[in-house]
Amino acid sequence: MHYHAVPDRVFQRCVELRRRLHRHPELAFEEVETAALISAELEGLGLVPSYGGKGSGVVADLPGPGPLIALRADMDALPGEESTGLPFSSAIPGAMHACGHDAHMAMLLGAAHLLGADPPGVGVRFIFQPAEEKGGGARTVIAAGALEGVGAIFGAHVTQHYRVGEVMVAEGVITAQSDRFTITVRGRGGHGARPHEATDAVVITGFLITALQTLVSREVDPVHPSVVTIGRVEAGTAPNVIAETARLEGSIRSTLPRVREQLHSGIRRMARALGDLHGASLSVEIQEGYPPVVNTAAEAQLAERTARRVVGDGGLVRLDHPSMGSEDFAYYLQRVPGCYVRLGARPAGQEQAFVPLHSPAFDIDEGVLRVGAAFFDQLVREAAAARRAVP
Ligand code: NI
Repeated sequence: MHYHAVPDRVFQRCVELRRRLHRHPELAFEEVETAALISAELEGLGLVPSYGGKGSGVVADLPGPGPLIALRADMDALPGEESTGLPFSSAIPGAMHACGHDAHMAMLLGAAHLLGADPPGVGVRFIFQPAEEKGGGARTVIAAGALEGVGAIFGAHVTQHYRVGEVMVAEGVITAQSDRFTITVRGRGGHGARPHEATDAVVITGFLITALQTLVSREVDPVHPSVVTIGRVEAGTAPNVIAETARLEGSIRSTLPRVREQLHSGIRRMARALGDLHGASLSVEIQEGYPPVVNTAAEAQLAERTARRVVGDGGLVRLDHPSMGSEDFAYYLQRVPGCYVRLGARPAGQEQAFVPLHSPAFDIDEGVLRVGAAFFDQLVREAAAARRAVP
């Protein structure tokens, strides 16, 4: 088997595409121009893009013996104003590729160039998915039939935690289950000078915020990571008015179903108890978020083998604990085996104070495009070879 180094011509094309995508970010389920650019590139390679789902995904097959190996990139940008000052900074007010999805698309197109030029002996499906950040685009794409005929699926995310040339691969749970909650506190409004005639929603909210901190620190087994974050609190109208209502919004992260259940019921229990304690009514609403990403063993081994070939043994990083982030790639892995990896993309000189994902100043070292394109290309060839080895 041969390992394709990415020719400069293909790498340059990846850089060009990444910068064009970066300059024209589109938010979840609005990826119209993005899809047009991807489709044009794939058509230029002789592929036939098609997508019948909601929003503007792009799905295209490189024909070959099945079952198909699917490779997935996400397409959406984040709300926010870019502050990188790059010559190809976002030209769209209120949107920015701050999560590196521009890079994911560009490297997958790079892999399409490599695989198209030297067919790997197995069918490949390229999936460009809308709305990863918000709205669970993966489910939409699956509903549109993108996993039909697929034997395994792979995806990757850039990360600033590692330098270019490092690839993180792990088996099992690699991201957390993410849920959101909203708690509404209903007391009784009144005059700021006459608290005895009112039930103060602000004071109850204060107790509630403190109480909820003890769920993770005092109730959950510390060897299983979990997080409860209250990210938003809203209450009151004026300094001399006792607030009748308050609203808290937060995020719950967990990696085990029973810890998740414990946190959900703990939040409900504390809200109920504080309502009783203060004579108020508290209601809790929990919205289910993305499930954990669980990499399957054989596919994680395949990805690891691929990483060793592409970046060498020294570039392979094994994750020994899950990230508490979340990723809708999880929905694909609920249906077919596969593996999600992380690609180091930290620019040189930023070891001490790197700029994290989702920051307005986020940028990547474009060298990761070379690594990503080679990784996806090689992954498919490894999968084809593994299949040939099994009679
Ligand atoms: Ni992302």
